[in-house]
Amino acid sequence: MKPKHIIILLTSALLFPVLTSNAQAKNEALNAKVERFLNDHKRDWRDMNVPYEDGKILHDLIVKNGYTSGLEIGTSTGHSTIWLAWAMSKTGGKVITLELNERRYKEALKNIAEAGLSDYVDARLGNAHKLVKEIPGPFDFVFSDADKDWYKQYFIDLESKLKAGGCFTTHNVADGQANADFLNYVKSHPQFTTTIDRTSRAGIMISYKKK
Ligand SMILES: C[S@@+](CC[C@H](N)C(=O)[O-])C[C@H]1O[C@@H](n2cnc3c(N)ncnc32)[C@H](O)[C@@H]1O
Repeated sequence: MKPKHIIILLTSALLFPVLTSNAQAKNEALNAKVERFLNDHKRDWRDMNVPYEDGKILHDLIVKNGYTSGLEIGTSTGHSTIWLAWAMSKTGGKVITLELNERRYKEALKNIAEAGLSDYVDARLGNAHKLVKEIPGPFDFVFSDADKDWYKQYFIDLESKLKAGGCFTTHNVADGQANADFLNYVKSHPQFTTTIDRTSRAGIMISYKKK
């Protein structure tokens, strides 16, 4: 081995632990910041946002499966987005989120920044009926939480953009908001295996696309 190569090897061996511990410290600081934000604001959400417990269910699904390309329909002021983005910060992914209402969209941007998660979110203002058809994907995680009468159409538009092994989640499926036609369509879909998490008061439908 040439002296030049020995120097490169030694430098890398010395630098590796420093870089690793820097990255670890950065992750720990971000986790602490997000946790603080979520706890401090637990009772502040007023715009049809998911409760803390439902946010955690979504976060855990992403982390458990290592998903990296998320889509959320219905940002509101960003509570669920923050949970999804926090999970994406752990998997090395990003979430696109869609919102029609400009006031809520702007507030979401502020909340996401305050939580320290702007790097993991691509927030778009517009009508999801159109945007969902236009965004190419593919995605490995979807959270559908906007207009309930469009749930079925969102699902149909995204079926082919969801990767095999990916997961399509839908909020409010056990509180009478999602219609029976949509629920039957998803439950009987041959390409999906569907369960409902009823620990969530609203009910979260979890549909895995078969591999
Ligand atoms: C139940 S809230 C979303 C709550 C959010 N996921 C959270 O937990 O923080 C539904 C949101 O979807 C938005 N929305 C409804 N129809 C929409 C559409 N066609 N395109 C985009 N957003 C829409 C509403 O403005 C509302 O803010």
